[in-house]
Amino acid sequence: MSSALFSPYKLAGLELANRIVVSPMCQYSGDDGCANDWHLMHLGMLANSGAALVVVEATHVERSGRITHGCLGLYNDDNEAALARVMQSARRAGTAKFGIQIAHSGRKGSAQRPWEGPTALKAGSDPWETMAASPIPFGDGWHTPREVTEADMERVRNAFVASTQRALRIGFDAIELHMAHGYLAHGFMSPVSNKRTDQYGGSLENRLRFPLSIARAVRPVVPKDIPLGARITGSDWRPDGLTPDDAVAIAKALKNEGIDFICISSGGVTADTRNPTEPGYNVPIAARVKKEAGIPTRTVGLIVRPEHAEEIVAQGEADMVSLGRVFLDDPHWGWHAAKALGAEVARPPQYARVGPKLWAPAAAKA
Ligand SMILES: Cc1cc2nc3c(=O)[nH]c(=O)nc-3n(C[C@H](O)[C@H](O)[C@H](O)COP(=O)(O)O)c2cc1C
Repeated sequence: MSSALFSPYKLAGLELANRIVVSPMCQYSGDDGCANDWHLMHLGMLANSGAALVVVEATHVERSGRITHGCLGLYNDDNEAALARVMQSARRAGTAKFGIQIAHSGRKGSAQRPWEGPTALKAGSDPWETMAASPIPFGDGWHTPREVTEADMERVRNAFVASTQRALRIGFDAIELHMAHGYLAHGFMSPVSNKRTDQYGGSLENRLRFPLSIARAVRPVVPKDIPLGARITGSDWRPDGLTPDDAVAIAKALKNEGIDFICISSGGVTADTRNPTEPGYNVPIAARVKKEAGIPTRTVGLIVRPEHAEEIVAQGEADMVSLGRVFLDDPHWGWHAAKALGAEVARPPQYARVGPKLWAPAAAKA
């Protein structure tokens, strides 16, 4: 049986062993933007997960662009040195390639860590001023951001470039711009959060102006063989929000800026919007983007079973699948998916005595 999920894939110049990607997942555990031993353990573990590519969590371009006090950044030399140490060790542990998501939190910044509460930092917890397309809070209990100025745009664009250069120096194999989940770039794209009356608000073309300018600034600093992608929203899941039609238009515009791949996620534009709960809820949107924008496409969202992931790739609905929470639940998900689908996956020599052979006698007895 040959598996589509376990077939190799070439993204720009990057050779991926299969179509499985560990989705970026904030750990809220950094020290002033610096990765530490938690990240070393977490990423070292995922280097051996069977996923061809592991995308490191949202890593922020300026200190005030972090989501929480525990979020990672690449805004100074200490951040870069700390992440370089972690990545050097994580790479030694396994065979996965590593990408990194470069981000700015916008109006969802200055937040508590999720386990501290689902709202903004309170007075006394060192909150900071946030900024967004329009001065509208994310929800009840959130800060009112100030409106982004042209000077902010220029600073943030330059910061995206500088953080990307730091990531490239560390040796990341892929770069992903975070343009989803209600953070700064998506906040500009969505009519729900962007009420501007200048050239950055109103029509979709205007709302895309600033996010596209980030892609345009970053593209020239990323060598052509290193994939540069963007995670965008497939739907705001609100009648007044971005739709799958918009996602196709956004993907086309980003492709036009030289972006190599799109990841279709969704949701997160306001505190009270909820994503659908059926497995693979973003898959139909990704399938449209892949077909209509003609760009390598990844998707994510409640993909848990190997057979489901296999079907998405085999049917050509997406080129790659990202899985998030299931990899935290089962850090060898890729090994178990290979076993279920009759495919091969890389394992470190130290663990060579596990795998399908281990299970065969037990299966024979059952
Ligand atoms: C703990 C946690 C942290 C996350 N952090 C990020 C992040 O840094 N960047 C991002 O784009 N998505 C983030 N997400 C969303 C996931 O990447 C993924 O899109 C989402 O969990 C849906 O996929 P799943 O159903 O496979 O978990 C996070 C999700 C979780 C559970």
